[in-house]
Amino acid sequence: MDRTHHRHVRSRLRPRGRPSEGMERMNDGEGAAGSVVRDLINGAMRFSVLYAFVRVSGPQALADGELTSDEVAKRCQCDPPLMRRMLRALESYRIVSGSSGSRYRLSPAGRLLIPGTVGSLRAGVLLNGSAPWREAAAGLADKLLTGPPTPTGSDDSPYQRIHRDPELAAAFNGYMTTLSTPVSMALAARDHEGVGTVVDLGGGQGMTLAAILRRHPHVRGVLVERPSVAEDATRHLADQGLTDRCEVIAGDMFTTTCPPAQRVILASVLHNWSDDACAAILRQARSALVAGGPAAELWCVEDLLPSSQRGTGRGDFDLDMRMAVMFPQGGERTKDEYQDLLSRAGLRTTAVHPIPDSTRSLMIARMASE
Ligand SMILES: C[S@@+](CC[C@H](N)C(=O)[O-])C[C@H]1O[C@@H](n2cnc3c(N)ncnc32)[C@H](O)[C@@H]1O
Repeated sequence: MDRTHHRHVRSRLRPRGRPSEGMERMNDGEGAAGSVVRDLINGAMRFSVLYAFVRVSGPQALADGELTSDEVAKRCQCDPPLMRRMLRALESYRIVSGSSGSRYRLSPAGRLLIPGTVGSLRAGVLLNGSAPWREAAAGLADKLLTGPPTPTGSDDSPYQRIHRDPELAAAFNGYMTTLSTPVSMALAARDHEGVGTVVDLGGGQGMTLAAILRRHPHVRGVLVERPSVAEDATRHLADQGLTDRCEVIAGDMFTTTCPPAQRVILASVLHNWSDDACAAILRQARSALVAGGPAAELWCVEDLLPSSQRGTGRGDFDLDMRMAVMFPQGGERTKDEYQDLLSRAGLRTTAVHPIPDSTRSLMIARMASE
């Protein structure tokens, strides 16, 4: 019997419908394994479509109701045939929905792209589509080969670059404000009995501090921020009528001496920094807490990485990768890693609470007994 005959017999013995090993390999590009990779490949294009739609103010054009694609194109001063194709793609991403006669309206997800709506993610799209953000992501392979640059101090922070570009700064601050809305609500809802002063280090535009001060009229607030953001925070707190209970310090949280405080908030701050830089920030926080009395607490808000790879979801490490390219000194940490960091700064974690409607958690820490 020759070898051709053997192959023929083997293939006849194979159960029907089950491909050979070679066939499985060949089909990978079309099967489940292939779709995992294709989904990642096409994610970049899908984001570009979303970004372009937001960039030309497509969501605003559709904010008041249904329009044909030509009407959307006219309002956005865009090329009608391309807008038709864009809307078709956006419908498949569930950003718009089409109805009879090819009229389109925004889906609930699409409505989140209108500026000023509660929970608007428009700034997040503009930030992630901005040239510095895209270039940083494109540079990941180089970073992988060279490793992170050597830090030379807080002055070479990416925040320098962000705040030099007003459009980028507006997108960054806007996105941070959206993400901090559920955090503000959760922190303001906590008990503030016996709290005289709350210090918010790197407190952004003052959303969280304003929410706390509004809800607890006996509390005073101090916010420490870089000068350009401090200006926005001052305006925001004034708009809320909180100026007389709040001080905004335009300064460096690494060096600013904070007043005694019963609460110090560090919300999405530590993840931007190395362990050594975090230790310096935590030293400032701790001295305010020591002066604030034995019941004083650090409220540290961060996304927590899963502690083991088992059961992790798609996207659990997206923010960590974003940090790797934009904030090479920083990175996301697990709960244990944060507890370690706090403990090395003389702070004992007493509770960890997931924040509703947010990916972040609140870690509460008190001074560890000497
Ligand atoms: C990721 S944002 C978080 C903002 C805010 N805490 C929130 O939860 O939305 C980090 C903030 O730290 C501020 N920051 C960075 N370096 C700083 C420094 N050296 N001194 C004071 N603030 C700083 C940034 O301007 C930015 O607003």
